[in-house]
Amino acid sequence: MSAFAYRGGVLCADEVPLEDLARRFGTPCYVYSASAIERAYREFAAAPSGRRALVCYSVKANSNLAVLALLARLGAGFDVVSGGELLRVAAAGGELAKTVFSGVGKSEAEIALALERGIGCLNLESAAELERVARIARRLGRRAPIAFRVNPDVDARTHPYISTGLRESKFGVPHAEAERLYAEAAAMPEIAVRGIGCHIGSQLMDSAPYAAAAERLVALADRIEARGIALGHVDFGGGIGIRYADAQPQPAAAFVDAALRALGARDKLLIFDPGRSIVGNAGVLLTRVEHVKRAEARNFIVVDAGMNDLIRPALYGAWHDVRPVRQAESAAGGAVYDVVGPVCESGDFLARDRALAAREGDLLAVMSAGAYGMVMSSNYNSRPRAAEVLVSGAQAWLVRRRETPEDLFAAESIPG
Ligand code: LLP
Repeated sequence: MSAFAYRGGVLCADEVPLEDLARRFGTPCYVYSASAIERAYREFAAAPSGRRALVCYSVKANSNLAVLALLARLGAGFDVVSGGELLRVAAAGGELAKTVFSGVGKSEAEIALALERGIGCLNLESAAELERVARIARRLGRRAPIAFRVNPDVDARTHPYISTGLRESKFGVPHAEAERLYAEAAAMPEIAVRGIGCHIGSQLMDSAPYAAAAERLVALADRIEARGIALGHVDFGGGIGIRYADAQPQPAAAFVDAALRALGARDKLLIFDPGRSIVGNAGVLLTRVEHVKRAEARNFIVVDAGMNDLIRPALYGAWHDVRPVRQAESAAGGAVYDVVGPVCESGDFLARDRALAAREGDLLAVMSAGAYGMVMSSNYNSRPRAAEVLVSGAQAWLVRRRETPEDLFAAESIPG
């Protein structure tokens, strides 16, 4: 069931017509459905039924405080990759003890912050990072809870930019070095070994590579435990794909099953850190048509959202469905268009070759924009970032006000 459906010919978020939201909050505007986020989270959290499991929502996908607070209320843990994300989780009322901190380049200040705030686990990605964490823990007089993110050398068969589990990838420690690193870590008094993890990539459609990685990871965990090093948890990562176009990914439960099968009867906490599959289809980018431009070789619908608002099409060639907010009564004015933004780049497109009928002033919804949308937005061309709105049933809240041009240069100064 989608949270975004036509009612009386008008596209709605839950029960709220998107036209009303455009009138109240302006465009471009991200709109999220609380019920859709809740449904996706609950479906995920219920999948490992009967087993000890923790879903650590990957904050990078959508870090709005209202989204984090909603997930915290539902009992989610969090997966963060920066001090900024960690402070967002804390500000939203999330539990840092249920939070894991991943990333290849955690700064000294970020590690200290995480230890002082009681992070659940630091996911380490190199021997150098182990040394750094041990040194900081010693200085702070704390024991650092750690796991290694192991690179399983499995091809996730997804876009190269979001594939992270191959030998060539910058992520994780090499599979072959993991045992030695665990032995080193276990011998350090300021380090508390908690578990092991991996993440092979994002927007996975099929659970087979995920299952292969899970099996390699569990086999490795057995070898580490045979050395007398206990691993309390196994973190299987995120990466579960969502439906953007026609191709339907396997449901989250298929991925969770793969992890459960790999783990067998071993009594361990299972951790998953999904981002996209929780929020991706729970959000749209609402935009208004500025002009319809018919050029010699192509037709364009110029809208008020650009690549600075949603960079996925420009960066990955990602395909997002574009729907008219008011269902066309006739095909008049219909043609094949590129939907482009106002940014001064030829790469500034949201969609290409779409059959649409649109006139100046019409509203369009760019679908499946709840993940890696607003979080990847920028101020390029000094464009204030969009507003964000959360809808639940018939209610709507502005959860991030639209930036003003003054916000954009508030941190700058002219010398002299
Ligand atoms: N865990 C780790 C260690 C990760 O690196 C990631 C994503 C996740 C979890 C969450 O993955 P998800 O469940 O959302 O697939 N900007 C790209 C996606 C980059 C994903 C980076 N890592 C996009 O727009 O497609």
